[in-house]
Amino acid sequence: MKLLLVCLGNICRSPMAEGALHARLQASPFAGRVQVDSAGTGDWHVGEPPDRRAIACARGFGVDIGAQRARQLQAQDFHDFDWLLCADRANVRDARQRAPAGMGDKVVLLLDWSGVMPDGEVPDPYTGGPEDFRQVWRLVDSAAQAVVARLATR
Ligand code: 4NP
Repeated sequence: MKLLLVCLGNICRSPMAEGALHARLQASPFAGRVQVDSAGTGDWHVGEPPDRRAIACARGFGVDIGAQRARQLQAQDFHDFDWLLCADRANVRDARQRAPAGMGDKVVLLLDWSGVMPDGEVPDPYTGGPEDFRQVWRLVDSAAQAVVARLATR
């Protein structure tokens, strides 16, 4: 299975979600069977590492996301990935606009699809402070744990 985490800039939420999910998978029996990547609907930060606050937050939870580099969502991603897991509803809308015909249903909300929170969104921490980043980490790590638990029951 291949999962793509999607947010707006690909420097805060989706890199943290990618890091949390990768770490949870590595510590599970599914290491190597699920591939994880992330992308942004916007192109402002393409090629950049995650936001320094996101890197610091993830490090505080024991996960190194510093080697990630931002990229923009491409039409090819809809062919390459089974699910595109979005942080918020604007990401869902923007991602579906890029979907090749018939592939829009691959675009879902991360917190909803994982079962953490029906219709739940991961709030954008970009203009926030350290506690906002920690709240993002708790949400995306809850989703990561739920995804691993779901794999275990398939
Ligand atoms: P992200 O946060 O979508 O979680 O990566 C943002 C990062 C940058 C911008 C917006 C959101 N921006 O407008 O540059």
